[in-house]
Amino acid sequence: LSEFLQCAGTILGTEGQSEFLAHQGTDCWTYHYSEKLMNWQSARKFCQENYTDLVAIQNKREIEYLEKTVPFNRHYYWIGIRKIRNTWTWVGTNKPLAAEAENWGTGEPNNKKSREDCVEIYIKRTRDSGRWNDDACHKRKAALCYTASCQPGSCSGHGECVETINNHTCSCDAGHYGPQCQFVVQCAALETPELGSMVCTHPFGTFSFGSQCAFNCSEGTHLAGMEEAHCGPFGNWSSLEPTCHVIQCEPPTAPDLGSMDCTHPLANFSFTSTCTFSCSEGTELSGEKRTVCGSSGLWSSPPPICQQSDRSFSMIKEGDYNPLFIPVAVIVTAFSGLAFIIWLARRLRKGMVKTTTRGSILVLHSHLIQKKGSLPEPACL
Ligand SMILES: *[C@@H]1O[C@H](CO)[C@@H](O)[C@H](O)[C@H]1NC(C)=O
Repeated sequence: LSEFLQCAGTILGTEGQSEFLAHQGTDCWTYHYSEKLMNWQSARKFCQENYTDLVAIQNKREIEYLEKTVPFNRHYYWIGIRKIRNTWTWVGTNKPLAAEAENWGTGEPNNKKSREDCVEIYIKRTRDSGRWNDDACHKRKAALCYTASCQPGSCSGHGECVETINNHTCSCDAGHYGPQCQFVVQCAALETPELGSMVCTHPFGTFSFGSQCAFNCSEGTHLAGMEEAHCGPFGNWSSLEPTCHVIQCEPPTAPDLGSMDCTHPLANFSFTSTCTFSCSEGTELSGEKRTVCGSSGLWSSPPPICQQSDRSFSMIKEGDYNPLFIPVAVIVTAFSGLAFIIWLARRLRKGMVKTTTRGSILVLHSHLIQKKGSLPEPACL
């Protein structure tokens, strides 16, 4: 507001070049006119180079103001309306002249000498003063210019400056507010999650509209929530900070005949938890004495077992023997027994055969005798 008051209170004197006088308009919209005469095209160029453009008259109040402040010039003043493709058009906005905005003098536009394609305004004329007339563009008249209220810095670079005749208004971009869009919408500050980290970018202000934060959880923890959050135009985050949960390991079981002692730096049976095993008297530890819960939720080694120091007993007790042992022993015993029986049987049979052979010898003998002589027929015993 103070800026507007200051602006309205400024009285502009003669502009740098002495032949051009400048007048302070209502509020910050200012009017300027040349004393030098020029055709419409040059007048427009002059206004664009030194101010904003040829005047674009928007209301009666503006006409009254010009009529009051601009001096009489018998050639009158060019304004920013021109016939383009047979339509009277505001050159600044390239918009056709609306019927209700028309302010023609009596009997105008008359296009008297044809090609009267440009518009002048009568200032301090006896008849039709403050009204418009169409005239040939090559004619030399004074230029009537304005300087727009909107400047490159208007609306703080975060809004669109809209010209109004006595003022300008800012149509602020998303997430910005205030008469000059000088304020940015704030979001609540976010906090770095425990066991994690947060990296934010703040294009407009800390934890403000457009701020973005990315979250990471340290090793051995997993992130619950969203990895990224952004501050929206209504001052709320797309999501809250996530939390980092320590990775859990399944609690190990102490061995039979032994005990277990665990330490938990972070949380019960979680990443970095360490368990140490020991076996009771008379037993031996088989396996790793110590196991650590890793970042993937698995122990570095399985829990060990405690074995009786008497090996043969413990072999059976712990079920650590070959299951084939008994059947094989049975089969071997059976086979050796069988082999012994066969051997014994053979031995017995051998004795019998010997007897028979002896008898056979006798038979052969008698046969030989039979061939040679007259002895009686031999008989087998
Ligand atoms: C803010 O909240 C509104 C509704 O309450 C929601 O539509 C919008 O998406 C939220 N903004 C962000 C950045 O998530």
